[in-house]
Amino acid sequence: MKPSASERSFAHSRIVPEPNVQPLDPPIPPEDCPECRARSPLDSEHDPFSKVGRKLACQSAIGELMDDLGSAMTTQPDVLMLGGGNPAAIPEIRQTWRGLMRGLMAREDQFDRMLANYEPPRGNPQFIQAFSNLLLKRYSWPVTPDNIAVTNGTQVAAFVLFNLLAGRGQGGAKRKILMPMAPEYIGYADQGLEADLFVVCRPAISWPDGESKRRFKYHIDFAAVEQCLESGDIAAITVSRPTNPTGNVLTEEELIRLSDLAARYAIFLVVDNAYGVPFPKVVFTEAKPYWAPHVINLFSLSKLGLPGVRTGIVVGPSEIAAAIQSWTAIVGLANNNVGQQLVLPLIENGELLELGPRILQPFYRERSWAAQESIEEYLGAAKVDWALHVSEGAFFLWLWLRGLRYTSRELYRRLKSRNVLIVPGEYFFYGLSDPWPHQHECVRISFSQSPEIVREGIRRLAEVAASRG
Ligand SMILES: Cc1ncc(COP(=O)(O)O)c(C=O)c1O
Repeated sequence: MKPSASERSFAHSRIVPEPNVQPLDPPIPPEDCPECRARSPLDSEHDPFSKVGRKLACQSAIGELMDDLGSAMTTQPDVLMLGGGNPAAIPEIRQTWRGLMRGLMAREDQFDRMLANYEPPRGNPQFIQAFSNLLLKRYSWPVTPDNIAVTNGTQVAAFVLFNLLAGRGQGGAKRKILMPMAPEYIGYADQGLEADLFVVCRPAISWPDGESKRRFKYHIDFAAVEQCLESGDIAAITVSRPTNPTGNVLTEEELIRLSDLAARYAIFLVVDNAYGVPFPKVVFTEAKPYWAPHVINLFSLSKLGLPGVRTGIVVGPSEIAAAIQSWTAIVGLANNNVGQQLVLPLIENGELLELGPRILQPFYRERSWAAQESIEEYLGAAKVDWALHVSEGAFFLWLWLRGLRYTSRELYRRLKSRNVLIVPGEYFFYGLSDPWPHQHECVRISFSQSPEIVREGIRRLAEVAASRG
């Protein structure tokens, strides 16, 4: 049941007023970066960095976002943080991790081994076996430990996969990653070691309950996707499900259609389930995990409330798992094994799959409702023309400010000077072949902070968006 506004007590008084914050500049695209321009291409001979080095050394959208998030959570406690992908502080979840950690420390042998040993680069064998048993038992996925590799987070997994599969091949031809529907996760945007690694399709837009209800939904334009696949230079299709930033959850039918297309073109389909099924299951619609022989599924412990343990899990064809193992050994020897040891009991008894439906899903759904109510109230009163993407999962609302008089980057700047952090929408539209005014009119708002913080942030956003200045 949707709770009424009066059932929630949003204590406005607890919100700190708006002190002056040191404004941080928004991300700078590499071509505008003064550091890069100073050295490359004008001065490329004297650049101490390689081409790849220069690309990685430059400011990136995800770098800026993580900086903002990091400072807001540490040195700027007064900032209203509507910008990051940090999970909420949920007492029951935190207690679960504390309890598991105490149990682990009580088993001294296991605890000592966890801290004192490098594990095999593929991950902890017991963890991998338990994970494969779980997938087989619960979902009848025909996977074995050969199909699984652990990484230091799904961010790393995506980086490895994109660069394993795309880029210039042995024969010299360049292959790319196809994102079937913009906007897509900001964290992928700068992951190609070679430039221009992503091809992204513009979505179709529908209004499920009519435009007057101000809820829209993006849909994959399958004709556009097929056209890209026809070009012949696609190495893999990638989707996040739920999509970060919009909270769109691709239906099973859409996934099957993408999977069939990938099979037809003999390429991989990468499904990033960071917020999705079967865990953490921050999904407000019906959704089931999906497997096929050419599908690479990414899972993460982060959105369960454990971003600090940096643990991602890749499940896919055995040659992919083996290649990831090899990258891990070369780049980092082994993975962080604390997360694997911590959640192992929940994987063995299957309780990992219960945390979502029992705790996370109701919690985030409630937060989503509360944030939507604030948007209706404040943006409605400010007479701003707005619409929200239907909220089907993840931690975000995707707000479309129709006819915004400046870009969402400018809105970000203005809001930052009012001590509110959101993420400008532009950065999620990388890889589009043609400019699209819509991409400058959207922002991502996280609702994982406390409802009063989110509400106050939205109040200030409405004021700034309505201001004529
Ligand atoms: C869609 C998506 N994929 C991957 C990640 C990376 O997660 P992690 O590296 O913490 O597993 C995130 C983090 O926000 C995300 O939103």
